[in-house]
Amino acid sequence: MKENSLENIIVLDFGGQYSQLIARRIRELRVFSELVPYDTPFEKIKAKNPKGIILSGSPYSIISNEKKYVVEKELFKLGIPVLGICYGMQLIAYMLDGEVTSRGSNEYGKTRINIDTNSLLFNGLQPVETCWMSHRDSVSILPPFFRIIASTTNLPIAGIEEPFKKIYGIQFHPEVIHTPSGMDILKNFLFKICKCSSTWTMVSIIEKEVKEIREKSDGGKIICALSGGVDSSVAAILVNKAVGERLTCIFVDHGMLRSGEAEQVEKTFKENFKINLVMIKAQERFLSKLKGVIEPEQKRKIIGTEFIRIFEEEAKKIKDANYLVQGTLYSDVIESGTKNAARIKSHHNVAGLPDDMKLKLIEPLRMLFKDEVRILGIELGLPEEIVLRQPFPGPGLSIRIIGEVNERRLEILKKADSIVLEEIKRAGLYNKIWQSFAVLPAIKSVGVMGDERTYDYPIVVRAVTSEDAMTADWVKLPYKVLEKLSCRIINEVEGVNRVVYDISSKPPSTIEWE
Ligand code: XMP
Repeated sequence: MKENSLENIIVLDFGGQYSQLIARRIRELRVFSELVPYDTPFEKIKAKNPKGIILSGSPYSIISNEKKYVVEKELFKLGIPVLGICYGMQLIAYMLDGEVTSRGSNEYGKTRINIDTNSLLFNGLQPVETCWMSHRDSVSILPPFFRIIASTTNLPIAGIEEPFKKIYGIQFHPEVIHTPSGMDILKNFLFKICKCSSTWTMVSIIEKEVKEIREKSDGGKIICALSGGVDSSVAAILVNKAVGERLTCIFVDHGMLRSGEAEQVEKTFKENFKINLVMIKAQERFLSKLKGVIEPEQKRKIIGTEFIRIFEEEAKKIKDANYLVQGTLYSDVIESGTKNAARIKSHHNVAGLPDDMKLKLIEPLRMLFKDEVRILGIELGLPEEIVLRQPFPGPGLSIRIIGEVNERRLEILKKADSIVLEEIKRAGLYNKIWQSFAVLPAIKSVGVMGDERTYDYPIVVRAVTSEDAMTADWVKLPYKVLEKLSCRIINEVEGVNRVVYDISSKPPSTIEWE
C-alpha cells in the first residue's frame, strides 16, 4: 500500500489540547487522519497528498505572541480544502489579510450560535445550534473574498468561508462532545467538501503499521517491553505479525505489579501466543533505586531509566537487537508534554526515558487512543480478558504509593488492590468503568480495633469512568459495594484501619495520584 494511496486528512498541530481528538473524530468517521506538527516542512505535507488540511487550536496568540506560529502561505494555494478551528481560523484570517483582535471577544463554554445553513460546512444543521467556545482572540476583519457563516451575540465573526478556494474557519470546537452537531460539521467537511469516502478501518492501520515496522526494523531483531496490559500486548502482537521470530518480548517484574500478574502474562504469551518471552525478576533492583524517593516525577524517571537499562542489558544478549517496541499511546504523549503542549506528568515510557538511550524506538500505537487500541486488539484476535482489561500504569503501584515505596507498603497495597478488583468484578462493574484501584497515602490515622488503639494507614479507593483518559469522572459506586470494600479491606489487610473514597474528577485531578 503506497502511503499516498490512502485518503488522508492532515491535522496541523499548533499545540491545542484537543488536536489529537480532531484526528480521532475523523478516524471515527472512517477516514484516515494523522496529526503532524505545524512546522512540518511544506514539501513533506504536500507529499502526503492530503484530501484536506485542518489547522488546530493552540495555546498561542497570533497577535500577542512575538514568535508567530504560522504555516507557509502556499498551503492556501494548493486547492486542498482547509478547515481552521479556533486558533486555526484566526491563523487563516491573519495570513490571508484579514485582522485578529484580542479586544473583548473572549468566550468560554457552551454558546448559542447562529449559522448560515447555505454554507456546505453547515449543510443539514439548524439555523441556531449550540457550540463549545474557548478563545481569547477573534477575527475582527474578514480576509478579502471571505464571507461570514456563523455569529454569536458577542462574536459577529464566529465562522468564515471562501467556498471557491474551499477555505473554512470556525471559532468553536466541533470535535468536543459539547458541540452536539460537531460530528455533522466534520462529516460535511470530509464528505461534501473534501470528497472523502468512508472506507478506512482499523484493519488498514494493521496493514500500515505492519509494513512500517518491517521497513523500519530492516531485518534487525526487536525486543518488546511487554507489561501484559492492553497497550503493550496489542503492540507485541502487531510486531509479532510483522516480524515473527525476530521479536523477543521482555517482561520486567519490577515488583510493583498487581498480585498474580506476572504469572498471568507468562501463561498468555508463552503458552497461548507462542511468542519468545523473557521474564526478568527485578524487584530488588527497583526498590533499592527507589529507596527514600518521594517525589513523583523522580520516581517515574528512576523507573523509566531502570526499565530501559534492563532492556539494553537484555538486548545485548540477543544478537543484532537494536529496536525496542513500546505500547505508548497518544494520551501518554500529550500529557508528557509535546513541543507545543504543556507537560502534566511524565509518563514513564515517554518523558521518563533516559537521554542517552541506545535502542531505537518503535511505537506503533503512538497516535491512537485507548479505545481505538482495544478495537485494534480485537481485530488482531487478542482475547477479551486482555483487550478489555482496565489500564494499569507502567510504573505500577509505585505511583499509587504516596511517599516512599518499600516492601511493607507494597504488600499492603497489593492486598487492598486485589480486594477492590474482586469486589468490582463481583458487582458486575469491571467492564463498565475505566479504572478501579486502591491508593496508599503517606499518612496514618488513629482507629480502634478490638478495644485496642490502632495507628495505621488509610486506603483510598478510586474508580473512574473515561472515554480516553484525557478527562474522567468519579464513579457513583453503590453504597453496598463501598460498604463491602471498606469492610473487607479493613478486616483483611493488616496495617489499614480506614477506607476513603476519592470523589474527584479529571480535570482538575488526574486519574492516578502521582
Ligand atoms: P492520569 O493519572 O494522567 O492517567 O490521569 C491517565 C491514564 O494513564 C495511565 N498512566 C500511565 N500509563 N505509564 C503508563 O503506561 C505511566 O507512566 C502512566 N501514568 C498514568 C493511568 O493509569 C490512566 O489510565
